[in-house]
Amino acid sequence: MPMIHAMKLSGAEGTARKRNDSKPKTKTDMKNLTSILAAALALSLAGVQAADVKELFEKNCTKCHGADGKADTKMGKKTGTKDLTDPKVQAEFTDAQAFKTIKEGRKDKEDKVQMKPLEGVTDDEIKALVAYSRSFKK
Ligand code: HEC
Repeated sequence: MPMIHAMKLSGAEGTARKRNDSKPKTKTDMKNLTSILAAALALSLAGVQAADVKELFEKNCTKCHGADGKADTKMGKKTGTKDLTDPKVQAEFTDAQAFKTIKEGRKDKEDKVQMKPLEGVTDDEIKALVAYSRSFKK
C-alpha cells in the first residue's frame, strides 16, 4: 500500500512538471506542504488545536519572531532573535531546548533576558508552540 501511494505521488509530480515548467516552485511547495502537515500532525498529537497555538504565537511571540518567523521586527532586531525559517538556525536547537526556552525563558551570555517564561500555558501547549516554531523552517 505505501508503495502504491508513493508511486501515485511521484506520478502526480511528473504531470505537474510537464504542465508548467516551474520545477523549483513545485518542489518548494511540496516541501512546505510536508512541514505544514508534520506540524499539524504534531499539534493534533499534543491535543492542541492549530488555531489555538496560532493565537498563542501571535499573542506572545510575533513581537520578536514575527508572524512569519523571520524575526524581521523592531523587537526581534533589538533582542537578536534569529530567523526561524533558516534551517541552520533550526539545527542549532533541539525540541527539548526549545521547550525549556518557552517554558523558562532565555537569557543571553550577559544574563540579559531575551525571552520571558511563558505563563498560563500547559506543557501540551508549549509542545505545540515548539512544533509551530519548527513549521517555519524552509
Ligand atoms: C522579547 C523577544 C522574544 C519573544 C517575545 C519570544 N522570543 Fe523566542 N527567542 C528570542 C531570542 C532573542 C531567541 C534566541 C535567538 C537565538 O540566539 O537563536 C529566541 C529563541 C527562540 C527559539 C529557539 C530555541 C532557543 O533556545 O534558541 C524558539 C523555538 C523560540 N524562541 C520560540 C518562541 C515562542 C514560541 C515564543 C512565544 C511563546 C517566543 N519565542 C517569544 C526572542 C523572543
